[in-house]
Amino acid sequence: MVNILVIHGPNLNLLGEREPAVYGEQTLEDINKMLKDTGAEYQVEVDCFQSNHEGTIVDQIQEARGRYQALIINAGAYSHYSIAILDALRSFKGPIIEVHLSNIYQRESYRHRSLISEAATGGIFGLGALGYKLALLAAIEMLKQ
Ligand code: DQA
Repeated sequence: MVNILVIHGPNLNLLGEREPAVYGEQTLEDINKMLKDTGAEYQVEVDCFQSNHEGTIVDQIQEARGRYQALIINAGAYSHYSIAILDALRSFKGPIIEVHLSNIYQRESYRHRSLISEAATGGIFGLGALGYKLALLAAIEMLKQ
């Protein structure tokens, strides 16, 4: 059985209520359900995790080693400055797909750089919740090869 972990960073628990014009109307629960349902179509188990805390995200990435074959991560604002999350991701063997709901390059300049991209296999931004689905499909395809 293939297991894929989806990690959502700070403030993503507020999806649906938080700046819907930027992040969309779907709640985190909606997105997680969509990901689990999509995974099930491919016999892939998808676990979803959200934390507002940098260290907890680092712990989760470390614990994912050996348990999950791929990671999908939207580290929220931590993407832009967390060397700790970048280092943790570097210790993970397997595809890592970075997701941002919004187009970070159309926004404030401090969002233009994602530190964690250095550890990501690839990434998707600006496609809203669809980005997560495409990230999952990409990870599944990569694990098949
Ligand atoms: C985000 C973009 C980040 O700049 C922001 O801090 C978020 C969400 C996105 O999904 O578009 O929390 O990662």
